[in-house]
This record gives sequence, structure tokens and C-alpha cells, in this order.
Amino acid sequence: MPFIAFCCIVVDPPATIYMGKDKFENEDLIKYGFEEDVWFHVDNLSSAHVYLRMNPGQTWDNLPEALLEDLAQLTKANSITGNKQDNITVIYTSWGNLLKNQSMATGQVSFKSSKRVKKVFVKERINSVVNRLNKTKVEKFPDFAKMKVDNNKERSRLKNKEMQAKRLQKKQLSRQAVVEKENSSYDRVFESAQMKKSHNSDFDDFI
Ligand SMILES: *[C@@H]1O[C@H](CO)[C@@H](O)[C@H](O)[C@H]1NC(C)=O
Ligand SMILES: *[C@@H]1O[C@H](CO)[C@@H](O)[C@H](O)[C@H]1NC(C)=O
Ligand SMILES: *[C@@H]1O[C@H](CO)[C@@H](O)[C@H](O)[C@H]1NC(C)=O
Ligand SMILES: *[C@@H]1O[C@H](CO)[C@@H](O)[C@H](O)[C@H]1NC(C)=O
Ligand SMILES: *[C@@H]1O[C@H](CO)[C@@H](O)[C@H](O)[C@H]1NC(C)=O
Repeated sequence: MPFIAFCCIVVDPPATIYMGKDKFENEDLIKYGFEEDVWFHVDNLSSAHVYLRMNPGQTWDNLPEALLEDLAQLTKANSITGNKQDNITVIYTSWGNLLKNQSMATGQVSFKSSKRVKKVFVKERINSVVNRLNKTKVEKFPDFAKMKVDNNKERSRLKNKEMQAKRLQKKQLSRQAVVEKENSSYDRVFESAQMKKSHNSDFDDFI
């Protein structure tokens, strides 16, 4: 199935944006998105579903301002009504917050939590942004199912790595605690020796 892809160069490395051509393609994106991908739509108006592909470790709720503007402009431009209107709102959330169930129509989606949906106000179309993105528009045939499998592997690899690092840190901390304990008992011995010594010298002075 062909998908539309855009390349956003306001961030380094450039970000990939996917857009379904129709509701059936949206369905694939809803199904095979990555947990941390970001889904964009014009609020209360029909528009394309726009997906920002994220890399492991990136989070949806602190997108760079310039990237967010690109996505908002692109989403607005891909809404028949929204494209013609000023002062519209674009909503976005993480793929992980999308809710899909049997009773919903093809291409339809809801949210697990509306609290985890953010809004971005778009005053007007910025032609330079829309044209720049439009020039990167390509038709792609990505195997989203395979990409998802690979991404899951990468996520669990990173998770394991993180857990390993935590275990190592814990080990080092407990090793250090042992050394510190030894040090402090040494300090105590040292201190009492000092005390004795100073006592003696006081005594000497007294004499
Ligand atoms: C958009 O909002 C601004 C103020 O925020 C207002 O001046 C302008 O008329 C609005 N445009 C439209 C088309 O409603
Ligand atoms: C969209 O609809 C919701 C609920 O009807 C409303 O709270 C919100 O203000 C609307 N947003 C815009 C931009 O009109
Ligand atoms: C599907 O989700 C919608 C929207 O949240 C909800 O109203 C509906 O009850 C759900 N249906 C099922 C079968 O879970
Ligand atoms: C994008 O570019 C194509 C030509 O490549 C043009 O036909 C189309 O109108 C442009 N779309 C937007 C939203 O600017
Ligand atoms: C233990 O004491 C020695 C000598 O005072 C010091 O150099 C070392 O940094 C201490 N180690 C720790 C883990 O506190």
C-alpha cells in the first residue's frame, strides 16, 4: 500500500512524517504505529491523520517548537476545510494514547485519555512552511508491520541495556558502601587514637 511521506528538516536528524492517503491507510498507521509516534489531526474538522515518526527515547510531549509548527501547518494544509480557515486548532497525542475498538468505523479513532491530548493553535497558513514540506513529499511503500516488529526489538534492547546499567550502578553503590563503612570504622579508630593523644598532651601541659 502506498503511503505519503514527508521529510522535516527543522530538526537534526530530519524527522519523517507519514500520512495515510485514505481511511484504509490510516487504519494501518493506527495498527502499526510506534508507541512514541505522534498523531496529529485538525480539531473538530475532517483532516488527514498525520504521524510523526519518533525514535526510541524521544517523547511526544516536548517536541521542539519548530517541529511542532511544521506538523501543525502540514495537518492544517491536509484538511479541506481547515486549509481555507484561519484560527484553527490542531490536536496531537502519542500513538500509545490512541484507542481503537471493534465498534469504530474504518479510520476512526478515539483516545484512551483526553488529558493526554495537546492542542496547538494555528493562526494562519504559512506558505513557506507548507511549500517546503510539500517539496519533500514522496510516495513510499513502507512495511509498517515489519517496522513495528523491529522497533519493538529495539525498544526491548534499550530497556535491557537500561536495566543492566541500573544493576551495575546498584552493585557499584553497594560496593562503595562497604568501602565507606570500612573507612568510617578506620576513621573511628583514628579519631579515638587522636583523642587519646590529645588527652595525653593536655595532661602533659597540665603537668
Ligand atoms: C483570527 O483571530 C484574530 C485574533 O486572534 C482575529 O483578528 C482574526 O479576525 C481572526 N480571523 C478569522 C478569519 O476569524
Ligand atoms: C472542538 O469541540 C470540542 C467539543 O465539542 C470543544 O470543546 C472545542 O472547543 C472545539 N474546538 C474548536 C477549536 O472549536
Ligand atoms: C469503543 O470506544 C468508544 C469510544 O471510547 C466507546 O464509546 C465504545 O463503548 C467502545 N466500544 C467497545 C465495544 O468497547
Ligand atoms: C504541493 O505540490 C504540488 C506539486 O508538486 C501541488 O500540486 C500542490 O498543490 C501542493 N500542495 C500544497 C498543499 O501546497
Ligand atoms: C576511604 O578513605 C581513603 C583515605 O582517607 C580515601 O582516599 C578514599 O577516597 C575513601 N574511600 C571512600 C569510598 O570513601
